Amino acid sequence: MKLFTTTALAVFAGLAVADDVLYSRRLQKRGIDSAGNYNISFFHVNDVHAHLDEFSSSGTDCTRPERGCFGGYARIKATIDEQRAKHDDSLWLNVGDEFQGTLFYTYYGGEKIAETLNQLGFDAMTLGNHEFDGGDDRLGDFIANLTDIPIISANIHSTHPKLNKTIKPYHIFPDKGIAVIGVTTETTPGISKPSELTTFSDSVEAVQNAIDEIKATTNITRIAAITHIGYDKDQELAAAVSGLQLIMGGHSHTLLGDMEGAEGKYPTIVQNKDGDEVFIVTAYRWGEYVGYIDVTYDVNGKILAYHGAPYHMTNTTKVDEKLQAQIDEWRKPFEEFAAEVLGTTNVVLDQTTCQQKECLLGDFMADAMYDYRKNASANVAFAIINAGGVRATIDEGDITRGEVLTSFPFGNAIVEIKLGGEALWNVLEGIVSKVNVENGRPVTSFLQVSKGIKIEYNPNNANGTKLVAVTIGDSPLDKAAEYEFVTLDFLATGGDNFFTPTKDFAILDTQDEVLTQYIEAQTPVDIALDGRIAIVNGTATPPTNGTTPPSTSAVSPPASTSTGGYTVVPRSAGFSSDATPVVARQVGAFAAVGVALVAALVMLWAQL
Ligand SMILES: *[C@@H]1O[C@H](CO)[C@@H](O)[C@H](O)[C@H]1NC(C)=O
Ligand SMILES: *[C@@H]1O[C@H](CO)[C@@H](O)[C@H](O)[C@H]1NC(C)=O
Ligand SMILES: *[C@@H]1O[C@H](CO)[C@@H](O)[C@H](O)[C@H]1NC(C)=O
Ligand SMILES: *[C@@H]1O[C@H](CO)[C@@H](O)[C@H](O)[C@H]1NC(C)=O
Ligand SMILES: *[C@@H]1O[C@H](CO)[C@@H](O)[C@H](O)[C@H]1NC(C)=O
Ligand SMILES: *[C@@H]1O[C@H](CO)[C@@H](O)[C@H](O)[C@H]1NC(C)=O
Ligand SMILES: *[C@@H]1O[C@H](CO)[C@@H](O)[C@H](O)[C@H]1NC(C)=O
Ligand SMILES: *[C@@H]1O[C@H](CO)[C@@H](O)[C@H](O)[C@H]1NC(C)=O
Ligand SMILES: *[C@@H]1O[C@H](CO)[C@@H](O)[C@H](O)[C@H]1NC(C)=O
Ligand SMILES: [Zn+2]
Repeated sequence: MKLFTTTALAVFAGLAVADDVLYSRRLQKRGIDSAGNYNISFFHVNDVHAHLDEFSSSGTDCTRPERGCFGGYARIKATIDEQRAKHDDSLWLNVGDEFQGTLFYTYYGGEKIAETLNQLGFDAMTLGNHEFDGGDDRLGDFIANLTDIPIISANIHSTHPKLNKTIKPYHIFPDKGIAVIGVTTETTPGISKPSELTTFSDSVEAVQNAIDEIKATTNITRIAAITHIGYDKDQELAAAVSGLQLIMGGHSHTLLGDMEGAEGKYPTIVQNKDGDEVFIVTAYRWGEYVGYIDVTYDVNGKILAYHGAPYHMTNTTKVDEKLQAQIDEWRKPFEEFAAEVLGTTNVVLDQTTCQQKECLLGDFMADAMYDYRKNASANVAFAIINAGGVRATIDEGDITRGEVLTSFPFGNAIVEIKLGGEALWNVLEGIVSKVNVENGRPVTSFLQVSKGIKIEYNPNNANGTKLVAVTIGDSPLDKAAEYEFVTLDFLATGGDNFFTPTKDFAILDTQDEVLTQYIEAQTPVDIALDGRIAIVNGTATPPTNGTTPPSTSAVSPPASTSTGGYTVVPRSAGFSSDATPVVARQVGAFAAVGVALVAALVMLWAQL
């Protein structure tokens, strides 16, 4: 672009290249060269979740600095101020979910977050789902308090006056010849609290429309996106659109890079349908890392070269003292309250695996809810919560009120609901398959459960047939029975798409109150995983409808073993056409015995 050639070269020609590491000898990052190539650096952060201050590795307050503490906007600010000064062309972008996660949000709402972001000098921000946790109105007030940070999200449509006038699909940086498009997870209405006035459209379509509009109305070819949709969706988006070169993502809390535990490359490169490379980067969560990538665009806006790696915010990172002093001051009103010790735990109450499998903090919270309610309501059989509502590990040692609130910050209330066995089976099937059986839409969280229920499932089965067995109390789930259990108001009203939404329940105490009582009763906490959510081989087929079977004693298929009342036969490939003749014959045989008998049998195919 003509814009840059003369001025940019004149300004940058005199600058030394020895300003940073080895690499800068090759990548000078200075303006536009004679071939029209342009270098710029992107810095990005996502899912800070109100971690204004540094935190322990589990995300709770940094109470034991000798074990290592991370993040904090005072470190981020010092890093950004120092690095941006070395890169004449750079953009500093916020990929959403600033809200929800520490007492800085619980106590102040968005107020101190806005004050902090204003000092960080972000060039643009997209909205995360959690920005809607306090509803449209409060989000509108937060946005109104941001000075000079464009809020962009191409797939948010709102007639709420405060949002309608502030949210734009994209922002153009004319001096850099770059457009940045924002996008927000379409699941937001199911996992947060936007009003009816605010809707979320298909992100691929919205981004493509924005690109088309930018191309139709400007000469800009360099187009990037900040996407609060998750790493998997980022890859789908990259493959599905034309004209986008760079995606800076968030929402899935994915660690990318060469460090231990990383889930992919920084950047992850995906080819789009034109055969062009799209670069995807994201920066984990809580501000533990600041993403950083330098790119060289050619004259047509294609990325020719890149270099970068996220910066780790550790206890050796420089701190902006002025911002840290403000954060310390803001902490004072809740510090004493948060520091109160409620009990101790001998084990780490782990949160990190809650979205994948049974986790200790999930067990503990669900048991607290079950214990809380079963005294008052003898028929309550168990508790179900969403993994997404369990936010941070509680380390061994003292458990403080601050940790409880950091782990369960939402103020969700316990509710008691009732479901028929068949409906309950479908709910659980939907959760393990990630697709709601009733409405066909995605389920957006895994579950955690209390004592009183055992869930066995086979992730290798097709969607809709992953649930293998459910035991309630000592008996298999009876599809004709009715079950009373406790869960959260958020879930009962349709959150995470677990249940068919209902308002037919009484609202009891909040999660943090119930957990506080339970800790006081249980201290010192000493629990272990007990397999209440288990991965098994096999399949629950055909579905039973709860009728008590006639006699099953006569039935004993060859080469089978019995597990908890279910019949196990060696596995082939299920019912698909590549099933071995042996299995096909068995299926045929069962069919011949009659519907009543089939209903009584649940076959578990042993895995190959
Ligand atoms: C941009 O960076 C590349 C290295 O990737 C370097 O070769 C080139 O000289 C730089 N261009 C400008 C205009 O600084
Ligand atoms: C800094 O963090 C490391 C672990 O990341 C820890 O071992 C060390 O004790 C910490 N240093 C201080 C001064 O707290
Ligand atoms: C907006 O700023 C005003 C004035 O500083 C403050 O009183 C208010 O709490 C802020 N609101 C939000 C949501 O940031
Ligand atoms: C604001 O309202 C106008 C008119 O209804 C609409 O065209 C526009 O898309 C809205 N903006 C947003 C961000 O929803
Ligand atoms: C795009 O570039 C052409 C050719 O340089 C110019 O005539 C036109 O005005 C530019 N359009 C915009 C929107 O800047
Ligand atoms: C439930 O009842 C048992 C036995 O009466 C009692 O020990 C326990 O503290 C009660 N739990 C709650 C949460 O009230
Ligand atoms: C199963 O459901 C998941 C989650 O919605 C989805 O990503 C996947 O494509 C589905 N698989 C099939 C074969 O439909
Ligand atoms: C499933 O079966 C395979 C092969 O028989 C076995 O290796 C594996 O441990 C089984 N998995 C479970 C969860 O039982
Ligand atoms: C359940 O299965 C039994 C036995 O096959 C059948 O008689 C009954 O009609 C079924 N009930 C429902 C509700 O489908
Ligand atoms: Zn999110």
